[in-house]
Amino acid sequence: MSSASSLILFLVAVSVASFFGAARSDDADEQLLRDINSYRASLNLSVLTENENADCLADEIANKFEGQPCTNSTGSNAILGSEGPIPDYPTLLSRCKLDISVTKDAAILPACVPGLVPSIVLTNFTKSQYNQQLNDSRYVGAGVASEGNWVVVVLSTATPQGNLSTVQGSGSGAAAAVRAPVASGLLFFAVYLFVTAMI
Ligand SMILES: *[C@@H]1O[C@H](CO)[C@@H](O)[C@H](O)[C@H]1NC(C)=O
Ligand SMILES: *[C@@H]1O[C@H](CO)[C@@H](O)[C@H](O)[C@H]1NC(C)=O
Ligand SMILES: *[C@@H]1O[C@H](CO)[C@@H](O)[C@H](O)[C@H]1NC(C)=O
Ligand SMILES: *[C@@H]1O[C@H](CO)[C@@H](O)[C@H](O)[C@H]1NC(C)=O
Ligand SMILES: *[C@@H]1O[C@H](CO)[C@@H](O)[C@H](O)[C@H]1NC(C)=O
Repeated sequence: MSSASSLILFLVAVSVASFFGAARSDDADEQLLRDINSYRASLNLSVLTENENADCLADEIANKFEGQPCTNSTGSNAILGSEGPIPDYPTLLSRCKLDISVTKDAAILPACVPGLVPSIVLTNFTKSQYNQQLNDSRYVGAGVASEGNWVVVVLSTATPQGNLSTVQGSGSGAAAAVRAPVASGLLFFAVYLFVTAMI
């Protein structure tokens, strides 16, 4: 096999693997939302509906935390109020076309669990300081995203200060979540076309 076709096979394998990796993590995120909703049902609270802009923000924040180690002072293990602000928060907001005024009443709950073991992840939300937010009828929507050992839940309210509606009402959130794998697939396809034209 020529080195060019080995390269193509490698690139295709990498893009397929990254696509399925992303899909698996999405499944885990949806499962966590279902588990949180079962928990809310047990407390007689309304179901949290998926909010695409909360998804977008959760994704940006999870990307930011990825690579940070889990310690007993990060995420849900942190002592209440001891965690500083999220780094680059205004930039992350603007990537989701959000303004800080629509996230005032929203809640951002990052948790770090090695390997993101589902049962431990769930208790990291229900049996920690975050229980206070999960057990709160003000929240009506949610977005969940995970990267590395981090999972981020963003809760939205029905009020203008927390409903996470985008600046021009342009719902860009969901698009951002699928953009990366699609873009990498297209890139590899372009490389494939280029290389096959060369040989
Ligand atoms: C939920 O509501 C049901 C029926 O109204 C009631 O029997 C039950 O005790 C409530 N549970 C909680 C946790 O409030
Ligand atoms: C975190 O772990 C370190 C080392 O085990 C310990 O010294 C420290 O007291 C812990 N901090 C908290 C907040 O539990
Ligand atoms: C959250 O996960 C960490 C890491 O696995 C674990 O040490 C901690 O006990 C968990 N906290 C809760 C409340 O489940
Ligand atoms: C949820 O909140 C209600 C009202 O504040 C409280 O009575 C109840 O004990 C809480 N339940 C849990 C599991 O935190
Ligand atoms: C959020 O609040 C704004 C201002 O009240 C409103 O125009 C918009 O329709 C709301 N969006 C959602 C998704 O509830």
